[in-house]
Amino acid sequence: MEKIIVNGGNRLKGEVSVSGAKNAAVAILPAVLLCDEICRIENVPSISDVNVIVRILYELGASVKVIDNSTVEIDPSGINSFMLPASMSTKMRASSYFIGAMLGRFNRAKVAPPGGCDFGVRPIDQHIKGFETLGATVTIDGGMVNAYAKELIGGSVYLDKVSVGATVNIMLAAVKAKGLTVIENAAREPHIVDLANFLNSMGADIMGAGTNVIKIRGVNYLHSTTYSIIPDQIEAGTYMIAAAITGGELLIKNVIPKHLESISAKLEEVGATIEEFDEAVRVKMDGRPKCCNVLTMPHPGFPTDMQPQMTTLLALADGVSIMTEGVWDNRFKYVDQLTLMGAKVKVDGKVAVITGVEFLSAAPVRATDLRAGAAMILAGLAADGQTEIDNIEFIDRGYDNIVEKLSAVGADIKRREFIDPNERRAAI
Ligand code: EPU
Repeated sequence: MEKIIVNGGNRLKGEVSVSGAKNAAVAILPAVLLCDEICRIENVPSISDVNVIVRILYELGASVKVIDNSTVEIDPSGINSFMLPASMSTKMRASSYFIGAMLGRFNRAKVAPPGGCDFGVRPIDQHIKGFETLGATVTIDGGMVNAYAKELIGGSVYLDKVSVGATVNIMLAAVKAKGLTVIENAAREPHIVDLANFLNSMGADIMGAGTNVIKIRGVNYLHSTTYSIIPDQIEAGTYMIAAAITGGELLIKNVIPKHLESISAKLEEVGATIEEFDEAVRVKMDGRPKCCNVLTMPHPGFPTDMQPQMTTLLALADGVSIMTEGVWDNRFKYVDQLTLMGAKVKVDGKVAVITGVEFLSAAPVRATDLRAGAAMILAGLAADGQTEIDNIEFIDRGYDNIVEKLSAVGADIKRREFIDPNERRAAI
């Protein structure tokens, strides 16, 4: 069992390069199913969620060539199965994208319900509504989502709730459907635009991605492509907070500054200096952060996936801040861990009241989900003493080489193997 060990107190200084976006990669990789020719995908992050999807593609019959750390070539022509059993799908949320992709390829899909981080109930009713609009019959039986259509025919779907997953899944199912599909109240996240650009690079006809109305005119055939995934907005934001929380200065490279605007605005509000370049941002912080209020919202609002990291920064702010979670019902589970380190945070439903303290103290804590794990690292970087973080497999799902990247800019952070005393006894 591995843990991450952080000795806090070092001010971070230097340059850190951001990898490809996880939430774009986990949509783009299943999308190759819609094509029968080789797709070369670049700037793929080296994270376990991506490994799981690549493995699924391989097990479904694709041939996969890993060119280097961030480039993969996938030939999906050998895929002939529309089934994704629980052993493959429950490891991650994005496995639900195989429903849309398989429907698009085979007019049918049989996929076990997806897993992923636990933020309370994670329904897929809006995905199903979209598939049904395209003419599919969707049932859930034997623990599997079953979708079938004689023929997929475009239609208009209004999402009752802005959903990244439903927007992606409906796009995937609609790309080769007959006629025009319109998604209204669509999600506008950068990874939605990236997926549309990827599909269009293969000959799809998608317009409006990045706005709340996306129009997809079905095409018969998608051809091979070479495509580079956009930089990860949330990884970049996490390093921006790492600079701020340590009173340091980081040049964060390989980013799209426009995607970081809501994060930059809040960091400036708490007293950080942000300088924007074409493909980089410099974040510098002197002194203690000021308090501020934050509401997480779908893009272009402040991202929910930055909520635990921002709460951690505000835990050290001068004054009382209010963090309101506007996307998920239950995304404050990590707060118990933060309070073990001396943070003063009171949660009532979707609102956290954060009374800033002057310092955090190291403690053994655990990652309760992916971004919560990143928040524990940030808390550890700022805390007095040695923080030991457990359950780090959550962090590895979405952060490419985070320990190496932070060490290179001055953090005292490493992975350490721990033998569980129960396992040791069993071995004897
Ligand atoms: N929702 C419904 N019905 C649906 C789908 C969603 O009510 O059919 C609700 C959800 O319960 C939630 C809200 O709509 O309250 C938004 O959910 P969304 O579908 O947008 O989330 P998701 O697609 O499951 C993706 C990211 C999450 C990120 C959210 C919101 C991926 C693989 N995951 O999840 O990322 O929090 O969008 O931006 O893209 C992360 O990276 O740490 C992460 C959790």
